[in-house]
Amino acid sequence: MTPTSDNAVRTVRLVTPGLPASDGAGVRMTRIIGTHALDHLDPFLLFDVFRSDDPDDYIAGFPPHPHRGFETVTYMFAGQMRHRDNAGNEGIIRPGGVQWMTAGRGIVHSEMPEQDQGLMWGTQLWVNLPAANKMVPPAYHEYPADEIPVETRDGDQRIAVIAGTTRLGTEGPVIGRPTAPIYLDIRLAAGRVFAEPLPEMHNAFAFVVQGRLDINGTRVDEGSLAVLGDGSIVEAESVSAEARFLLVSARALKEPIARGGPFVMNTQEELRRAFFDYQAGRF
Ligand code: CO
Repeated sequence: MTPTSDNAVRTVRLVTPGLPASDGAGVRMTRIIGTHALDHLDPFLLFDVFRSDDPDDYIAGFPPHPHRGFETVTYMFAGQMRHRDNAGNEGIIRPGGVQWMTAGRGIVHSEMPEQDQGLMWGTQLWVNLPAANKMVPPAYHEYPADEIPVETRDGDQRIAVIAGTTRLGTEGPVIGRPTAPIYLDIRLAAGRVFAEPLPEMHNAFAFVVQGRLDINGTRVDEGSLAVLGDGSIVEAESVSAEARFLLVSARALKEPIARGGPFVMNTQEELRRAFFDYQAGRF
């Protein structure tokens, strides 16, 4: 008999705390995917974390700007952001709520703080679209915390399921996306081990929101992101009083990436076309 169980558990390939960055009209944040250390993790193009209780760090927000060719996923831990776009969508993202926006062929949106004091803490992830879906009509989905199911395991593991279906069958509200993403927000009591299968063709990362994890022998501290290697199972142990982390995976596209600011296409020609279409007011 061939022992396969150890091989199946994903190891940590890279741990990165990201780099300080500024985006929008001067929002201070930490960029974790989209840096020299981690340019992208197919199909994830960017992962930003903003966390500050100083309004000067966030008040300017993200005034109207375009996107084409991918999806943006905004998830809030504290504070509120107001979204508005030129497709007529508007909404406020509150703690525990997620906004899943498909830019597709083009959208112009703004993301502005809906507060002038207090803690603003959240993340934005960019998920690439396959060539066949880059020019789909834009779409917008907003799910407040009370529409996101929470699975409880062993009484002290709480798993908010934003996208995907867990091994116990809890299904998140985000469905039907081309990269079949899984997006879980997991809380673990001290010393508990979370275990979950992920499809082998998925690339995956864990971002530690709070506390400290041991992932298959590698320590991952608060605020750091761990890129997971190949395998079929993820195991993460809380080695702090309590740990909270995001576990995110999706199908790798293995397509060429042509990236220019807010546009992500497959070729330089498509990128030029995106800038041209935007300048010509075709979004
Ligand atoms: Co945006």
